[in-house]
Amino acid sequence: MPETGSTAAVHLGSGKVRELYALDDERLLLVASDRISVFDVILPTEVPDKGRVLTGLSAFWFARTLEFVPNHLLSVREDGRSLECKRLEMLPVEIVVRGYLSGSGWKDYVRTGAVCGHALPAGLQESERLPSPIVTPATKAQSGHDENIDAAAVAALVGFERWAEAEAAALALYRFAAEHAEARGIILADTKFELGVDRDGVLVLGDEALTPDSSRFWPAAAYAPGGPQPSYDKQYVRDYCESLGWDKTYPGPEVPADVVAGTRARYVEAFELLTGLAFDDYLADPQVVLR
Ligand SMILES: Nc1ncnc2c1ncn2[C@@H]1O[C@H](COP(=O)(O)OP(=O)(O)OP(=O)(O)O)[C@@H](O)[C@H]1O
Ligand SMILES: [Mg+2]
Repeated sequence: MPETGSTAAVHLGSGKVRELYALDDERLLLVASDRISVFDVILPTEVPDKGRVLTGLSAFWFARTLEFVPNHLLSVREDGRSLECKRLEMLPVEIVVRGYLSGSGWKDYVRTGAVCGHALPAGLQESERLPSPIVTPATKAQSGHDENIDAAAVAALVGFERWAEAEAAALALYRFAAEHAEARGIILADTKFELGVDRDGVLVLGDEALTPDSSRFWPAAAYAPGGPQPSYDKQYVRDYCESLGWDKTYPGPEVPADVVAGTRARYVEAFELLTGLAFDDYLADPQVVLR
């Protein structure tokens, strides 16, 4: 149980990856575990340091994107996996920005020629770069898969002006991060943001941001539209699990040590390429990502 000095933090809940604690009325502690999900199923095997990669990368981006939107980061703890943050009233939607046609966006396009109400040119291939990035909101499903919704539905949920503000912030974040990543050999195909509102009614970026768990990162050198792309991080585990003939429902399979090591190496490599920092330097002093 994390401590805050005199009073113990109150455990608010467990997400698939994070443990959430209240430090006081205004501050939360988000602790990223090493749990990994494949096809939305949490595996029984953990990937050492994965939570530190997610926390370090999020903090790296939070420190560099304040010109686009304020965020919830207050501090990174010395364990490298715990983030003290401002408590927000989260918007009831996830905000996905897509620069490439993949995943549920590709499926919607094949079915309807559009993605969440964005009409797209005919004849696009799977994983093709879009003429310009689009924002596609999704409802946060309590169980199962999130559902894409259109602009009218999201405006009904959060209000038209709030949505316009969130959409502009998400696009600016995506453009900045995609350009940063591309210069380092990584395509940011799409990414999901969670925004909330603080006590003063200000829109604030929360949760994790621009990590391998919230984004599709593709190695640029291997990019070949016309089918699915290898994902940067989870491909080893996914391929291994599929090779077992697993039906993608709970419980997931145990993962052998070599697959765990390969997966950890890919998470760490993504961290190092994107931040330009050695992961060991982050472990020694997590504050390096904030400079
Ligand atoms: N600043 C904040 N204030 C309040 N809640 C927050 C804040 N930042 C993140 N959260 C919430 O904390 C939780 C983080 O936990 P985690 O990422 O493990 O959840 P999750 O399993 O990904 O949830 P989901 O399946 O809905 O994505 C999310 O529900 C997120 O909305
Ligand atoms: Mg999450």
